[in-house]
Amino acid sequence: MATEETTSNAQHTETSSSGEESISSVLSEKRKFPPSAEFSNNAHISSMEEYEKLYAAAEADPDAYWGGIAEQFHWFKKWDSVLEWNTPYAKWFNGGKTNICYNALDVHVNSWRKNKAAIIWEGEEGNQRVLTYGELHRQVSKFANVLKIAGIKPGDRVAIYMGMVPELVIAVLACARVGAVHNVIFAGFSAHAITERVNDSRAKMVICADGTRRRGGSINLKNIVDEAIVNTPSIRSVIVLKVTDEEIHMHNGMDHWWHDLMGLAADESEPAELDAEHPLFVLYTSGSTGKPKGILHTTAGYMVHAASSFKYVFDIKDEDIYFCTADVGWITGHTYMIYGPMLNGATILMYEGAPNYPQWDRFWDIINRHKVTIFYTAPTAIRAFIRAGNEWVTKHNLSSLRLLGTVGEPINPEAWMWYQKVVGQEKCPIVDTWWQTETGGIMVSPLPGATPTKPGTATRPLPGIMVDVVRKDGTPCEANEGGYLVIKKPWPSMLRTIYGDNERYEKTYWSEFHDMYFTGDGARKDEDGYIWIMGRVDDVVNVSGHRLGTSEVESALVSHEAVAEAAVVSRPDELKGNALVAFVTLKDEYVGDMTLREALRNHVAKEIGPIAKPDEIRWAKGLPKTRSGKIMRRLLRELATSNEIKGDVTTLEDFGVLENLRDQEND
Ligand code: WT7
Repeated sequence: MATEETTSNAQHTETSSSGEESISSVLSEKRKFPPSAEFSNNAHISSMEEYEKLYAAAEADPDAYWGGIAEQFHWFKKWDSVLEWNTPYAKWFNGGKTNICYNALDVHVNSWRKNKAAIIWEGEEGNQRVLTYGELHRQVSKFANVLKIAGIKPGDRVAIYMGMVPELVIAVLACARVGAVHNVIFAGFSAHAITERVNDSRAKMVICADGTRRRGGSINLKNIVDEAIVNTPSIRSVIVLKVTDEEIHMHNGMDHWWHDLMGLAADESEPAELDAEHPLFVLYTSGSTGKPKGILHTTAGYMVHAASSFKYVFDIKDEDIYFCTADVGWITGHTYMIYGPMLNGATILMYEGAPNYPQWDRFWDIINRHKVTIFYTAPTAIRAFIRAGNEWVTKHNLSSLRLLGTVGEPINPEAWMWYQKVVGQEKCPIVDTWWQTETGGIMVSPLPGATPTKPGTATRPLPGIMVDVVRKDGTPCEANEGGYLVIKKPWPSMLRTIYGDNERYEKTYWSEFHDMYFTGDGARKDEDGYIWIMGRVDDVVNVSGHRLGTSEVESALVSHEAVAEAAVVSRPDELKGNALVAFVTLKDEYVGDMTLREALRNHVAKEIGPIAKPDEIRWAKGLPKTRSGKIMRRLLRELATSNEIKGDVTTLEDFGVLENLRDQEND
């Protein structure tokens, strides 16, 4: 299917005349995969010509483009203007009144979709529940009444802390229905993390579960909430859903059972008629330093982009069963598990538990049994599957799949090829979707029926999205010159601010280039205009005067047969300015020794060039990651420099990983 021969060797190193200020890009990937005629013929967008036309039209008249999409929703009152832009503050569809929950549920309940499955849920133990749009609407309306009875008013913040059960979706949508601002906190976070988020957003209520099932056991969530809210004066009440048999204490006056309150609530509830710019949710994301940032998203603009990007990127059809493996605790779960799919009346598959429970084939088993057609996951998961071995995948019939997606970090070409061959059986396009918590929705991605893909690139921006790669002085880079990824024009689902901190909002995103949004990512645009993300600019290292994106060195390492995963960081070096330290996880059948270490260094030299050769390679049983699967390079930098960790580790998923790294003998 590839149209060009494989040339995974990097032959070029681009450095611009601006030297220090540019980022050298060293990976070159020439394979190209156009969608099949069959896929294109049935797709919403069927060709590059169609995409180019749409893109040009949206660029020429953004108001008409976004306004046209907005027309498809239900408005209690139409907007006065599509966009009011007062850099860096946006008002989209100002003057309009709508409700995103109404558009995600009531609209379908008033159509033939009333009895269509909205959620097919599978518990970790294999139990299943199916909620039709009609039933989901009823539950959400009831819970909206519960919120009202509890005194929740439009604009109040509500923290949600529960595992991946349908009630999590119900709680989120009920908040949206009454105009409460939801703040979902990932159910793996500590009491300290909850306290910090609740206090920063001054939330009035916590909705939680007694516990959450995990790998055959359960984790007590309510005790963690109890510990957290000792220090949160704003919390008035806690609603507790019973999920497990965890022993918990219900505090009189403060705590209420979900089922008790639902038993009392009526099942009809008028949706609040909310301003287009009414705040919809706050979601906290870690900053490079200091306290987490509360990213604020608002109603109508978010709705417009969540719905349209989901439709085009996932090419959604009514027959599809769409499986997104993300947790609702992060933005992918918000936009592409709840809002995007439900605004389109799609059927989602929601899975409660771990990907390797009871065994490494759980996802493939789910796909086969439920005949999933679209599968969206993260590169970190893909690399874990590669490591576990192909047989877990190939023993299942995955012929129902028609489209695959990835998100979260650059996908190494090696992992992309595996995904395409072993999971997609060379017939499914892959949408590598670039976006951020801050962007609210996908910004750069192939349109699966149109865009020829290349392993490792998110390809082109979506219509209406104006991105560019620029130098430090803001001038555009040339083709293949590494630089900074920026967004040149406001877009509807952009963050409106950092909750309660306009100053930090301006400083973080708008001080680098003033009239352009700075993403924090390094990137290059190739000769086809495809965007290649080179990782966070913070992760760029300067070796002997060359600025290298560490993700490219990582990709080179992962392309070696022995390597399952790699993270590359720098430590100060007297001679070179910085030395590269690679933390490498090997595939199970390989043993880390001197010979392999040398082989890997040579492999990187061959793939990229001697300049990128790691000075040090450390074997790692696992890498320190956030809950959303991002490698915490900051911690590795500390380890590489001082062999000690002093910084904040509250977002780390598994502390054992760090202990292992610290304790290991380096032969
Ligand atoms: C950062 C945003 C959007 C949901 C996932 C994470 C990196 C994300 C890609 C991709 C290369 C990617 C970027 C971005 N990233 N998707 N397809 N290719 N890099 O959201 O936690 O806000 O992180 O994730 O560095 O800036 P997030």
